[in-house]
Formats: sequence, structure tokens, C-alpha cells
Amino acid sequence: MKFDILTLFPAMFDGPLSQSILRRAIERGLIQVRCHAIRDYAYDKHRTTDDYPYGGGAGMVMKVEPLTACLEQVLADRPRARIILTSPRGRRFYQALAAELATEEELVIVCGRYEGVDERLKELFPLEEVSIGDFVLTGGEPAALVMVDAVSRLLPGVLGCGESAEDESFAAGLLEYPQYTRPETFRGHAVPEVLLSGNHGEVGKWRRREALRRTLLMRPDLLETAPLDKHDREWLRRLSGETDT
Ligand SMILES: C[S@@+](CC[C@H](N)C(=O)[O-])C[C@H]1O[C@@H](n2cnc3c(N)ncnc32)[C@H](O)[C@@H]1O
Repeated sequence: MKFDILTLFPAMFDGPLSQSILRRAIERGLIQVRCHAIRDYAYDKHRTTDDYPYGGGAGMVMKVEPLTACLEQVLADRPRARIILTSPRGRRFYQALAAELATEEELVIVCGRYEGVDERLKELFPLEEVSIGDFVLTGGEPAALVMVDAVSRLLPGVLGCGESAEDESFAAGLLEYPQYTRPETFRGHAVPEVLLSGNHGEVGKWRRREALRRTLLMRPDLLETAPLDKHDREWLRRLSGETDT
């Protein structure tokens, strides 16, 4: 999959892309990430990329001309790209959207800064505004990295065989069950007995129940859409009874 990121700060991507799973995915050619410096497309002698907002008010706005020139150059090489504008005003990024984006071949991500980009960029290009949450970042770079990371790990071969994206939080509409590793007991805290039993059926049941418990406690909204069977519902009724008392 090809990612193209338009940013004023390309160096912000150096560290995260040179480590761990993303580095390995790049080295193995499973993903390609190119960062484009928007400033290189500013035409004046000071390479200006921002200006005062029309109508007054605090802050600066990213100028439309360098962004347009940069985006046109990138798209010339990426004819099938889906284009995302990072923005706190956008559609929420979540696991299902990551899975949807993972089916694309080309993804272009525009990182805003200051008060955001001149609104006309959205009139000129088919941009999808995407937000990574209800908070405001100083720029779109961390949001772009979040998307590259979450999308990449869903691509075939990116996670090693010991790692799986199938059994995790949100994959089946629930939060993941609790995980433990050695030692069996630490400072008097023991690993749940069932996980040491070697009984895969019982381990599976326990994990499902704990996933439901955790979801009910932390994210009950997810239960409204999660696929649940009659055993799940019965367990949730019992848990709700416990939490009511
Ligand atoms: C300081 S923010 C601009 C906020 C904007 N003035 C507003 O109130 O909606 C600068 C840039 O950071 C990025 N950004 C900030 N918060 C974000 C979020 N929650 N998700 C995605 N991008 C975000 C966007 O690219 C945005 O243009």
C-alpha cells in the first residue's frame, strides 16, 4: 500500500517510521510511505505557507496555493488515491474505517497546522475530513501516523505470525480480554487459574466472558452493535445484576 503524506514537518515521521513493525513493513515493501514537504511548493521568496485569516481572528491559515501545487504533484503519480484531510471537524477514525482504508491501494493524507487549511482546498479536491478523536492537536502529523499505523497492521504480512489483528479490541466489536505472561504469581497477584489449565475450550469461554465484562464496564456503547449470542446476553444480564447491586 502506498501512503503519501503532505506536511510542513516531514522530519516528524522519521522516528516512528524507522522503528519496529512499520520499519519492517517498509523494508519488506509491504507499505511505502513518502512524505512531501508542503513548503517546497511555496512560490514566494520566503516560502510562505500560511497567512492571516480573512475576517480577522487569532492564528494563521494554511495557504491554498502551496497545498494545491503539492497535492496536484502527488496525485499525478497516485491516480487512484483516496485523499484524507486530518481535521478535528472530520468523520471519526475508528477500527472499521481503518479496515476500509486497508483495502485501498493509495492513500494521501494532508496534515493541517495552525488554524487549519483554507476551506477552498475542499472545493478543489475530493477530500475526506478525518478526526482521530474529540481533542485538538497542534498539527495533523500525529493523526496521520495513527492512521498509517492502524491501517498498515491490517495489511497481509505486516504483523508477524505471532501477532494477530483478528482477536483484538474492536475486531469483533468488543474490547479485548485481559492478557498475562510469566511469572504465574507476582507480589501475591496470581494469573487466573483457567489460563494455566491447558483447556482451550474453557480458556476461550473465559476470554469471551472477560471481553464482555470489560466492554460493559469501559465501553457499554459497543454492546449496542456487537454481534452477541444468547450465552453472551445471559452473561451480560448476570454482570449487570452484579453491577446494579
Ligand atoms: C490546531 S488544529 C486546528 C483546529 C481548528 N482551528 C479547529 O478548531 O477545528 C491544527 C491541525 O491539526 C490537525 N488536527 C488537530 N486535531 C485533530 C484531530 N483530532 N484529528 C485529526 N487532525 C487533527 C488538523 O490537521 C488541523 O488542521
